[in-house]
Amino acid sequence: MTFFEAVGGEETFTRLVRRFYEGVAADPVLRPLYPEADLGPAEERLRLFLMQYWGGPRTYSERRGHPRLRMRHFPYRIGAEERDRWLAHMRAAVDELELPAHLEEPLWKYLVYAAYGMVNVPEDA
Ligand code: HEM
Repeated sequence: MTFFEAVGGEETFTRLVRRFYEGVAADPVLRPLYPEADLGPAEERLRLFLMQYWGGPRTYSERRGHPRLRMRHFPYRIGAEERDRWLAHMRAAVDELELPAHLEEPLWKYLVYAAYGMVNVPEDA
């Protein structure tokens, strides 16, 4: 069984990312970074990426190609503050999934690691 299946498949990632983007929508620092008025397409891209990362369908790469996430984030200024706000909304979203610890732990560890890796303001890295 993949991690994707173990946590509940697509439905779980849909809930995670929906809750996360509710936080982003209300965040005065993060919201202005998103170029589109509608956060829906960004929500869909993050949802498909995370599903693929954890062993689910490869729809993300079929639509977007190789993730190259650090490169795709270069247009946005991501310092310690942006990273920490991103992680705070993600933490709230992960909490609402109420996953067993053996699943929640690797998910959260990855998200923290990935968020630190996305920082592109040298003095904050
Ligand atoms: C795209 C911000 C971290 C995954 C974006 C976009 C912004 C953004 C503004 C463009 C919206 C769009 O058009 O999709 C941030 C900030 C972060 C962060 C402030 C703070 C650390 C992460 C992390 C991941 C991630 C840790 C993965 C675990 C993605 C994906 C996309 C995206 C998959 C869409 C890429 C594409 O296909 O174009 N992010 N991001 N982001 N982000 Fe992040």
